[in-house]
Amino acid sequence: MGDKRITLAWTGASGAPYGLRLLECLLAADYQVYLLISSAARVVLATEHGLKLPSGPEAAQQALIAHLGCENGQLIVCGKEDWFSPVASGSAAPKQMVVCPCSAGTLASVAHGMSDNLLERAADVVMKERGQLLMVVRETPFSTLHLENMLKLSKMGVTIMPAAPGFYHQPQSIEDLVDFMVARILDHLGVSQGLVPRWGYDHRQ
Ligand SMILES: Cc1cc2nc3c(=O)[nH]c(=O)nc-3n(C[C@H](O)[C@H](O)[C@H](O)COP(=O)(O)O)c2cc1C
Repeated sequence: MGDKRITLAWTGASGAPYGLRLLECLLAADYQVYLLISSAARVVLATEHGLKLPSGPEAAQQALIAHLGCENGQLIVCGKEDWFSPVASGSAAPKQMVVCPCSAGTLASVAHGMSDNLLERAADVVMKERGQLLMVVRETPFSTLHLENMLKLSKMGVTIMPAAPGFYHQPQSIEDLVDFMVARILDHLGVSQGLVPRWGYDHRQ
């Protein structure tokens, strides 16, 4: 299985624009993306982006393909109990997964290995297979429990990337802030990108 495959999960934390932009960039980089969408993520997507996805995975997939203009087969939306999806098993799952945005709820479930839906199971699989899991957590302030869950996962090799864009690239728009976060995520995944100027190379004074 030649691997330009990745699992992307959208959960119900604020930050739907990060998730959408990341999906766009992964598809543009010719990745095949398995997309997992929690019920709360659908609410957030409608609230923050005005994009109302149909509830079934196939219909959501068609809506996203139409919205993003990608090729059929490049984007696979999986249902939350689609246990026969490749992402549910270490024998077939992509080695990389990003949860973006990641809610405190999903953070807790993953930290405790709940595997109660496909999204949590997929994260558990990537961890047990020693793959790369990035969690773009969004909450403020963090409670002690959130911090403990993040520490626990970090110690297991998970990369915790709080959705905390910098301002040193002098953003002119919300898109610039979104791109800052997405650029850092793509860097960690090893996906080449030129979304924002790199520190020390093209620094505006
Ligand atoms: C518009 C909106 C914004 C939210 N923002 C956050 C957030 O930033 N962080 C968070 O942890 N939960 C946030 N929530 C609450 C989660 O969606 C909620 O806890 C949900 O149960 C998470 O479920 P999930 O992890 O399965 O997506 C938000 C909910 C809504 C409707």
